[in-house]
Amino acid sequence: MTTPPPLELIQAAIAAADFAYVPYSHYRVGAVLRATDGSLYRGCNVENAAYPSCICAERTALVKAVSEGRQAFDLIVIATQNGGSPCGSCRQMLYEFAPDLRVVMVDFAQRITGDFTLRSLLPEGFGPNDLPQR
Ligand code: THU
Repeated sequence: MTTPPPLELIQAAIAAADFAYVPYSHYRVGAVLRATDGSLYRGCNVENAAYPSCICAERTALVKAVSEGRQAFDLIVIATQNGGSPCGSCRQMLYEFAPDLRVVMVDFAQRITGDFTLRSLLPEGFGPNDLPQR
């Protein structure tokens, strides 16, 4: 049995979904990414009339964190109405910085629907070490 993530992070991820801009899918996603120094970065999905320009909640949180100087992370909590799983693009972007990240999915009723390492969600992932050194 693994210990559940702090309740305050679950609640923060659910609260982050309130800010989702989702006029097209109506699927709200909230995320809280924790840096190893304990700082927290919230994110929501932000959609666009040009559909491919949408950004997911997890990448919103990641880009906020990196743009404020954080590059090491230990936990992300992702909240959706059905406890859904992070998409491939988000897995890939998170893998760049934190292949051993703990990824917890929850639903809006605070139920934990998944608790994985990012490595297990992206086996044989491609990362910085796969590029030739220069
Ligand atoms: N979405 C996320 O925010 N994170 C994911 O990992 C999966 C999908 C968003 C994108 C889009 O705004 C909506 O959910 C439906 O795909």
